[in-house]
Amino acid sequence: MKIVVIGGTGLIGSKAVSILRQGGHEVVAGSPTSGINSITGEGLKEAMAGARVVIDLTNSPSFEDRAVLEFFETSGRNLLAAEAAAGVRHHVALSIVGTDRSDNGYFRAKVAQEKLIESSGIPYTIIRSTQFIDFIGRIADSSMDGRTVRISPGLFQPIAADDVAANVAEVALAPPRNGIVEIAGPERAPFNEIVARYLKAVGDPREVVRDPEARYFGGRVEERSLVPLGEARLGRIGLDQWLRR
Ligand SMILES: NC(=O)c1ccc[n+]([C@@H]2O[C@H](COP(=O)([O-])OP(=O)(O)OC[C@H]3O[C@@H](n4cnc5c(N)ncnc54)[C@H](OP(=O)(O)O)[C@@H]3O)[C@@H](O)[C@H]2O)c1
Repeated sequence: MKIVVIGGTGLIGSKAVSILRQGGHEVVAGSPTSGINSITGEGLKEAMAGARVVIDLTNSPSFEDRAVLEFFETSGRNLLAAEAAAGVRHHVALSIVGTDRSDNGYFRAKVAQEKLIESSGIPYTIIRSTQFIDFIGRIADSSMDGRTVRISPGLFQPIAADDVAANVAEVALAPPRNGIVEIAGPERAPFNEIVARYLKAVGDPREVVRDPEARYFGGRVEERSLVPLGEARLGRIGLDQWLRR
């Protein structure tokens, strides 16, 4: 089966591409460097010809509120139009758990991306994932206040990128759900505690301060803002196992 992975060179994209190729599928790994650009539209028509499934794993180069919204809206529109023209049978996209329950600009852009998919008429599955363990360092960087890292004690359940990619590949090969699937890591604990454990284990001397008012990329974090409220598929790799690798 021909599968196009847009964002196929990224953290999740490169792992999903290799899982699908190992499964014997014909996989196009699309990114601007390979001449496939979801913002300009370059290369989309050629990439999608004969494709049955398209997986959108793109990410915005800028996380600034307006830039990220513009990225996911433009990219989503261009991809879905090219898929409709090519007769693609399943659109898979990676979104975020709690994206519709926060006031954060990045999450608003993901909601806009989801809405485009839901109204496109193309059979789809949206995978909402919790934060990647691999992303915790960047979360700490964005939460710096002077020399300390301020993090909310709201619950956190990060998932390893390898587990995310495995779920993406599995969903892409299954029939479209025309709905949302949630995935999360195997362990749930206060956000500040997980970030502190992560930084200590990687030898990062920054101190983590528990702060119920600390925001996550500009959004408030209540007790359950970032964790699945209902059933979710759980990854296998916990924080300690990820850190030992
Ligand atoms: N980080 C988290 O904790 C988290 C949690 C849940 C969901 N997500 C979602 O997961 C998705 C994937 O994230 P990631 O960390 O794997 O992203 P990433 O490593 O930043 O990779 C982004 C990919 O998008 C490509 N790309 C950028 N602009 C493009 C364009 N105009 N046309 C085509 N491709 C373009 C990049 O290509 P180049 O390599 O050429 O730049 C790269 O392959 C994102 O949509 C994100 O919202 C993230």
